[in-house]
Amino acid sequence: MQNQYVRKTVIQIHDKHFVPFITAEEIDEVIDRMARQAQEDLKDEVPVFIGVLNGSFMVVSDFVKKYTEPCEVSFVKLASYEGMTTTSEVKQLIGLNQNLEGRSVVVIEDIVDTGNTVAELKKIFEGHNLKQLKIATLFFKPEAYTKDIKLDYVGFEIPDKFIVGYGLDYDGLGRNLPQVYQLKE
Ligand code: IMP
Ligand code: MG
Repeated sequence: MQNQYVRKTVIQIHDKHFVPFITAEEIDEVIDRMARQAQEDLKDEVPVFIGVLNGSFMVVSDFVKKYTEPCEVSFVKLASYEGMTTTSEVKQLIGLNQNLEGRSVVVIEDIVDTGNTVAELKKIFEGHNLKQLKIATLFFKPEAYTKDIKLDYVGFEIPDKFIVGYGLDYDGLGRNLPQVYQLKE
Protein backbone atom coordinates (compact mmCIF):
# COMPACT_ATOMS: atom_id res chain seq x y z
CA MET A 1 0.00 0.00 0.00
CA GLN A 2 1.33 3.39 -0.93
CA ASN A 3 1.80 6.15 1.54
CA GLN A 4 -0.71 8.93 0.92
CA TYR A 5 2.10 11.34 0.08
CA VAL A 6 3.73 9.22 -2.61
CA ARG A 7 0.92 9.52 -5.14
CA LYS A 8 0.75 13.28 -5.13
CA THR A 9 3.20 15.45 -6.99
CA VAL A 10 2.86 18.53 -4.85
CA ILE A 11 2.25 17.98 -1.17
CA GLN A 12 1.22 20.38 1.54
CA ILE A 13 2.60 20.32 5.07
CA HIS A 14 1.16 22.92 7.40
CA ASP A 15 1.12 26.14 5.36
CA LYS A 16 3.79 25.20 2.79
CA HIS A 17 3.92 23.29 -0.49
CA PHE A 18 6.67 20.87 -1.42
CA VAL A 19 7.67 19.14 -4.65
CA PRO A 20 9.43 15.76 -5.09
CA PHE A 21 13.21 16.20 -4.94
CA ILE A 22 15.02 12.90 -4.29
CA THR A 23 13.45 9.46 -4.69
CA ALA A 24 13.62 6.59 -2.24
CA GLU A 25 15.69 4.64 -4.80
CA GLU A 26 18.26 7.43 -5.11
CA ILE A 27 18.54 7.63 -1.34
CA ASP A 28 19.04 3.89 -1.13
CA GLU A 29 21.85 3.94 -3.71
CA VAL A 30 23.64 6.82 -2.02
CA ILE A 31 23.45 5.25 1.44
CA ASP A 32 24.83 2.06 -0.03
CA ARG A 33 27.81 4.01 -1.37
CA MET A 34 28.34 5.75 1.98
CA ALA A 35 28.24 2.46 3.89
CA ARG A 36 30.72 0.84 1.52
CA GLN A 37 33.11 3.79 1.88
CA ALA A 38 32.88 3.64 5.67
CA GLN A 39 33.41 -0.10 5.64
CA GLU A 40 36.53 0.26 3.53
CA ASP A 41 37.92 2.89 5.92
CA LEU A 42 36.98 1.05 9.11
CA LYS A 43 37.52 -2.57 8.19
CA ASP A 44 40.05 -3.10 10.97
CA GLU A 45 37.81 -1.55 13.64
CA VAL A 46 34.52 -2.25 15.33
CA PRO A 47 33.10 1.24 14.86
CA VAL A 48 30.39 2.83 16.95
CA PHE A 49 27.79 4.47 14.74
CA ILE A 50 26.01 7.21 16.62
CA GLY A 51 22.87 8.69 15.13
CA VAL A 52 21.74 12.15 16.10
CA LEU A 53 18.03 12.15 16.87
CA ASN A 54 15.42 12.84 15.78
CA GLY A 55 16.21 13.33 12.11
CA SER A 56 18.76 10.55 11.62
CA PHE A 57 16.65 7.54 12.56
CA MET A 58 15.92 6.51 8.95
CA VAL A 59 19.41 7.02 7.58
CA VAL A 60 21.00 5.13 10.48
CA SER A 61 18.62 2.22 10.03
CA ASP A 62 19.36 1.91 6.33
CA PHE A 63 23.07 2.65 6.68
CA VAL A 64 23.78 -0.06 9.26
CA LYS A 65 21.84 -2.66 7.26
CA LYS A 66 24.30 -2.03 4.45
CA TYR A 67 27.33 -2.13 6.74
CA THR A 68 28.07 -5.83 6.81
CA GLU A 69 30.95 -6.00 9.32
CA PRO A 70 30.64 -5.95 13.13
CA CYS A 71 29.65 -2.55 14.49
CA GLU A 72 27.78 -0.96 17.36
CA VAL A 73 24.81 1.36 16.93
CA SER A 74 23.65 4.02 19.32
CA PHE A 75 21.68 7.26 19.34
CA VAL A 76 22.10 10.61 21.04
CA LYS A 77 20.10 13.75 21.20
CA LEU A 78 21.54 17.24 21.37
CA ALA A 79 19.57 19.37 23.76
CA SER A 80 20.10 23.06 24.25
CA TYR A 81 19.30 24.97 27.36
CA GLU A 82 20.01 28.52 28.45
CA GLY A 83 23.16 28.90 30.50
CA MET A 84 23.57 31.09 33.55
CA THR A 85 23.44 34.22 31.45
CA THR A 86 20.70 34.66 28.88
CA THR A 87 23.18 34.95 26.04
CA SER A 88 24.98 31.65 26.60
CA GLU A 89 23.30 28.67 25.07
CA VAL A 90 24.80 25.43 26.31
CA LYS A 91 24.54 22.21 24.36
CA GLN A 92 24.26 18.93 26.14
CA LEU A 93 24.35 15.40 24.80
CA ILE A 94 21.56 13.12 26.02
CA GLY A 95 21.70 9.35 25.79
CA LEU A 96 25.42 8.64 25.66
CA ASN A 97 25.81 5.89 28.24
CA GLN A 98 28.89 4.12 26.98
CA ASN A 99 32.63 4.52 27.34
CA LEU A 100 33.98 5.53 23.93
CA GLU A 101 37.64 5.76 24.89
CA GLY A 102 39.87 4.41 22.13
CA ARG A 103 36.92 3.76 19.83
CA SER A 104 36.31 4.77 16.24
CA VAL A 105 33.09 6.74 16.26
CA VAL A 106 31.05 7.73 13.23
CA VAL A 107 28.42 10.36 13.93
CA ILE A 108 25.53 10.00 11.51
CA GLU A 109 23.49 13.10 10.72
CA ASP A 110 20.48 13.54 8.51
CA ILE A 111 21.53 16.99 7.32
CA VAL A 112 24.35 19.47 7.81
CA ASP A 113 23.22 23.00 7.21
CA THR A 114 25.15 25.80 8.97
CA GLY A 115 27.35 23.20 10.67
CA ASN A 116 26.59 24.45 14.17
CA THR A 117 25.32 21.04 15.26
CA VAL A 118 28.33 19.22 13.87
CA ALA A 119 30.65 21.71 15.58
CA GLU A 120 28.93 21.13 18.93
CA LEU A 121 29.10 17.38 18.52
CA LYS A 122 32.76 17.51 17.62
CA LYS A 123 33.51 19.62 20.68
CA ILE A 124 31.66 17.22 22.94
CA PHE A 125 33.24 14.07 21.50
CA GLU A 126 36.73 15.56 21.72
CA GLY A 127 36.41 15.12 25.49
CA HIS A 128 35.95 11.36 25.17
CA ASN A 129 39.47 10.28 24.11
CA LEU A 130 38.28 8.60 20.94
CA LYS A 131 40.64 6.89 18.57
CA GLN A 132 38.98 8.77 15.73
CA LEU A 133 35.81 10.67 14.97
CA LYS A 134 34.24 10.63 11.55
CA ILE A 135 31.17 12.52 10.39
CA ALA A 136 28.58 11.13 8.01
CA THR A 137 25.62 13.09 6.72
CA LEU A 138 23.02 12.17 4.15
CA PHE A 139 22.42 15.78 3.10
CA PHE A 140 24.83 18.70 3.02
CA LYS A 141 24.11 22.31 2.10
CA PRO A 142 27.54 23.70 1.12
CA GLU A 143 26.16 27.23 0.54
CA ALA A 144 24.95 27.42 4.14
CA TYR A 145 27.97 25.77 5.78
CA THR A 146 29.99 28.11 8.01
CA LYS A 147 32.53 25.67 9.50
CA ASP A 148 35.74 24.13 8.26
CA ILE A 149 35.13 20.74 9.84
CA LYS A 150 35.68 17.97 7.34
CA LEU A 151 32.66 15.82 6.55
CA ASP A 152 33.90 12.29 5.87
CA TYR A 153 30.84 10.74 4.22
CA VAL A 154 28.40 12.98 2.38
CA GLY A 155 25.36 11.58 0.60
CA PHE A 156 23.95 14.49 -1.38
CA GLU A 157 25.20 18.05 -1.74
CA ILE A 158 22.02 20.10 -2.11
CA PRO A 159 21.09 23.75 -2.62
CA ASP A 160 20.26 25.92 0.37
CA LYS A 161 16.54 25.23 0.20
CA PHE A 162 14.35 23.62 2.84
CA ILE A 163 13.63 19.91 2.43
CA VAL A 164 11.40 17.38 4.24
CA GLY A 165 11.06 13.63 4.35
CA TYR A 166 13.18 10.60 5.16
CA GLY A 167 13.53 11.69 8.78
CA LEU A 168 13.52 15.43 8.19
CA ASP A 169 10.55 17.42 9.39
CA TYR A 170 8.83 20.70 8.84
CA ASP A 171 7.52 21.73 12.23
CA GLY A 172 7.03 18.15 13.36
CA LEU A 173 5.54 16.69 10.18
CA GLY A 174 6.99 14.88 7.18
CA ARG A 175 9.55 12.63 8.88
CA ASN A 176 7.72 9.50 7.73
CA LEU A 177 7.96 10.31 4.02
CA PRO A 178 10.09 7.66 2.26
CA GLN A 179 11.32 10.21 -0.30
CA VAL A 180 12.54 13.78 0.03
CA TYR A 181 10.62 16.88 -0.97
CA GLN A 182 11.86 20.42 -1.50
CA LEU A 183 10.04 23.63 -0.67
CA LYS A 184 8.15 24.88 -3.70
CA GLU A 185 9.05 28.38 -4.87
P1 IMP B 1 22.89 22.96 11.41
O1 IMP B 1 22.52 24.34 10.95
O2 IMP B 1 23.91 22.32 10.51
O3 IMP B 1 23.32 22.96 12.86
O4 IMP B 1 21.57 22.09 11.31
C1 IMP B 1 20.63 22.19 12.33
C2 IMP B 1 19.41 21.37 12.12
O5 IMP B 1 18.53 22.11 11.30
C3 IMP B 1 19.51 20.04 11.43
O6 IMP B 1 19.93 18.98 12.27
C4 IMP B 1 18.08 19.83 11.00
O7 IMP B 1 17.33 19.34 12.08
C5 IMP B 1 17.64 21.25 10.70
N1 IMP B 1 17.63 21.50 9.24
C6 IMP B 1 18.51 22.19 8.51
N2 IMP B 1 18.15 22.26 7.21
C7 IMP B 1 16.97 21.58 7.15
C8 IMP B 1 16.05 21.28 6.07
O8 IMP B 1 16.24 21.65 4.89
N3 IMP B 1 14.95 20.56 6.40
C9 IMP B 1 14.70 20.14 7.67
N4 IMP B 1 15.51 20.39 8.70
C10 IMP B 1 16.64 21.11 8.45
MG1 MG C 1 19.42 16.81 12.80
